[in-house]
Amino acid sequence: MTDSFGENIVHLKNLSKEEYESLFKFSEILNSSTHQDSLIEDAIDIVIKVINAERGLFAKYDETKDEFTNVTGRKISSKSITSLDEFSSGILRKVIKEKKPILYHDVQADPNLSQFQSVQIQKIKSVIGVPIYRDGKIWGVIIADSQLNRKEFTEENLTFLNFFSSLVSLALDRIIQYEELEKENRILINQLQAAEEIPEMIGNSSAMRTLSKLVHKVARTDATVLIIGESGTGKELVARAIHKLSKRKDKPFLAQFCGSIPDSLLESELFGYKKGAFTGANSDKIGLLEAAGEGTFFLDEIGDISMALQAKLLRVLENREIIRLGDVNVRKIEARIIAATNKDLHEMTKEGEFREDLFYRLNVFPIKLPPLRERRNDIPMLAKYFVDKLSDRKITIHPHAIKKMETYYWPGNIRQLINVIQRSLILCDSDKLTEEHIILEDQDETKNFNGTLEEFEIFLLKKRLEQFNGNRTLAAKSLGVSVRWVQLKLKEIGEQI
Ligand SMILES: Nc1ncnc2c1ncn2[C@@H]1O[C@H](COP(=O)(O)OP(=O)(O)OP(=O)(O)O)[C@@H](O)[C@H]1O
Ligand SMILES: [Mg+2]
Repeated sequence: MTDSFGENIVHLKNLSKEEYESLFKFSEILNSSTHQDSLIEDAIDIVIKVINAERGLFAKYDETKDEFTNVTGRKISSKSITSLDEFSSGILRKVIKEKKPILYHDVQADPNLSQFQSVQIQKIKSVIGVPIYRDGKIWGVIIADSQLNRKEFTEENLTFLNFFSSLVSLALDRIIQYEELEKENRILINQLQAAEEIPEMIGNSSAMRTLSKLVHKVARTDATVLIIGESGTGKELVARAIHKLSKRKDKPFLAQFCGSIPDSLLESELFGYKKGAFTGANSDKIGLLEAAGEGTFFLDEIGDISMALQAKLLRVLENREIIRLGDVNVRKIEARIIAATNKDLHEMTKEGEFREDLFYRLNVFPIKLPPLRERRNDIPMLAKYFVDKLSDRKITIHPHAIKKMETYYWPGNIRQLINVIQRSLILCDSDKLTEEHIILEDQDETKNFNGTLEEFEIFLLKKRLEQFNGNRTLAAKSLGVSVRWVQLKLKEIGEQI
């Protein structure tokens, strides 16, 4: 315990009940501050109030650089002061030098102080100042001054300031620790988010990383999600991931495949029915949308749904309610809806095949899954993952086998890759998968091409570049375009081959 603290204790004995109460109030205020800035503001307000000063100033002090930073000041008019020029830095330095509280009744008459230019300019008459310590070093200085009265401040004020500075130091310790923890916490959360992966979802390409971020973000909300992607790209996996990462994770995840199912069957599955609603409806049946409760409901292949059912689904999304077949009671549903399709729903709305209002209701948060051929650099990782998963032997993949897979078009995406790996493992007798084991169904990839014209352009360009070992001149010549066209195209897709 420092000597000054001991001195303060002695002085404390003389304090009245009201003064004790005020001190208690101050310690409460100081302890409620959670950041340095608010502590400083609170401290100055208290000082001004208690010692009845015209102006108060806090200046943070950097001992290693020997300079004042972060100046916060107040005038009685409560106008903020942010520049040291309005006070006397000479007096601040005096506190730093003396390392203890100072009190001057008549600054102008004191030759040591009246020499300071600022004292003259600001016409300072009396001043009181106190250092604030942290870890044995001066962390900042509080001063208050008066331009009116030579005898503005008293010895009691000095005692108060001394004690008060100890309180501020204590609060400061707590706040700095808190701020450090807060910063650490933010860094940890950030790192966690950066490392966020979708459970069971393999891939480290930039497309997959973007996807992962989207999935994590939307999982925290209740928004309806529309997952769009070619067959086998992982739409169901993403839907399950959103559920698993959401607060609904302990509630059911129910799915309904909507493709090529008779309307009446699909309807009764989704909405349920009342006994006697149709022949064979021998008892009431709860629909899946209702059964999902507060969980997630996945409408797979939503693009295949009939116009009549689309109207009913619109009601589900708009009003969150359903009516069982043959029933009159309206029932509320709580489930979060995720839908998926490999069709272009927007295009279907233009053709009048899909309701526009339903499309917009579903398209609240669209997630587009990239086809495997657009993230070929994930293929080695995926291949290894499936080999390890599907085989109980330790099997390595020869680089030529990887190359063969990397250059294939993968119309069936990951599902097809799984099949190819499965087949290769049956064919492989050794501990190494080679090119021969990789049987790709239709090497004439153009036959299976179901992308857009623009995608075909890029596909063909890549093929030709492969064929000519990356020689752009030969590739351009064979395609009947200029080399510049090839260069622009490659730049456009951001790829160097
Ligand atoms: N990134 C991935 N990492 C690992 N496995 C994946 C990945 N993406 C998809 N899969 C696997 O690929 C298979 C197909 O995925 P999924 O059924 O989710 O695709 P889909 O888009 O719903 O296909 P479809 O349109 O044919 O229904 C599943 O076995 C799934 O686990
Ligand atoms: Mg699917």
